[in-house]
Amino acid sequence: MAHYLVTGGAGFIGSHLAEELLRRGERVRIVDSLITGRRANLTHLPGVEFLEGDLADLAVARRAVDGVEYVLHQAAIPSVPRSVDDPITSNRANIDASLNLLVAARDAKVRRVVYAGSSSAYGNTPTLPKVETMPTGPLSPYALQKLVVEQYCSLFSQLYGLETVTTRYFNVFGPRQDPSSPYSGVISLFISAMAAGRAPTILGDGEQTRDFTFVANVVDGVLRACHAEGVSGQVINVATGGRISLNQLFRVVRDLTGAQVEAEYGPLRAGDVRDSQADITKARQLLGYEPIVTFEEGLARTVRWYREAALTTA
Ligand code: UD1
Repeated sequence: MAHYLVTGGAGFIGSHLAEELLRRGERVRIVDSLITGRRANLTHLPGVEFLEGDLADLAVARRAVDGVEYVLHQAAIPSVPRSVDDPITSNRANIDASLNLLVAARDAKVRRVVYAGSSSAYGNTPTLPKVETMPTGPLSPYALQKLVVEQYCSLFSQLYGLETVTTRYFNVFGPRQDPSSPYSGVISLFISAMAAGRAPTILGDGEQTRDFTFVANVVDGVLRACHAEGVSGQVINVATGGRISLNQLFRVVRDLTGAQVEAEYGPLRAGDVRDSQADITKARQLLGYEPIVTFEEGLARTVRWYREAALTTA
């Protein structure tokens, strides 16, 4: 049994990682500030050790890594528009906290840190799909923050010999993604609106595209990145390799929910990327990764989950 720290483990992706680790019989500690995470995401995981605290405090980071072998660093304020509105708060959560965690992990001789990077690092580089060797072009504070920390991770590998891997996520969705904020991920917003018979808002012309990735694929990719040999210091896309426009997404969610609505259109968001699609060759080669749940299947499961969650909270 190995000992894992999942930062941001009370959040959407972190809670799925914790759940899978427990299922595999591993020992799990979670640290979460509960700024965006929720205790309710942990009620079905009685076996975890929960530490409430903010990694922007170095003492919390040191407590969190104490005795741990692997760190899965998911904690962040994960929103492009929120970072545009309030770059200082997101910088603190996304950069300052991460640097503390890396220093603490180095000093505690953690075996490996797997960091949740973001496809936003690519910005509007013209070629699709996005390959890890491409130049980056952050368009928002969030994108820049995610890029800075992946570079910190690679630097810590070179400079201090701390093993790190960055998994660059592409628009992850699934059960437990919180739809309650205007900054929430678009799939959670579309499903919660249409399941209640309300029209969702498409920002821009709806022809922007995303490689929407069901969370189970990310969990698999991260755990592979945690244990693969010879990948320290690497940055690896974790996605499905497909591309769906928001107009298409709207139609599929409408069909799945049976909503009788038309989309409303609003102004394009500042800092928005036009097209995003991953090349997953590197993940295949280095991690033996292969998407296990398709976009369509993942979306159907997610709609079912939101329906059941709405019933249990009604
Ligand atoms: C970005 C990153 C992603 C990261 C995420 C964290 C890219 C390509 N992706 O996602 O890797 O994990 O930030 O938050 O940069 N939209 C609507 N209506 C809404 C809400 C959003 O049309 O009500 C649109 C947005 O303008 C955008 C798309 O939906 O074009 C996706 O938005 P969102 O879910 O917020 O994620 P990204 O910003 O693409």
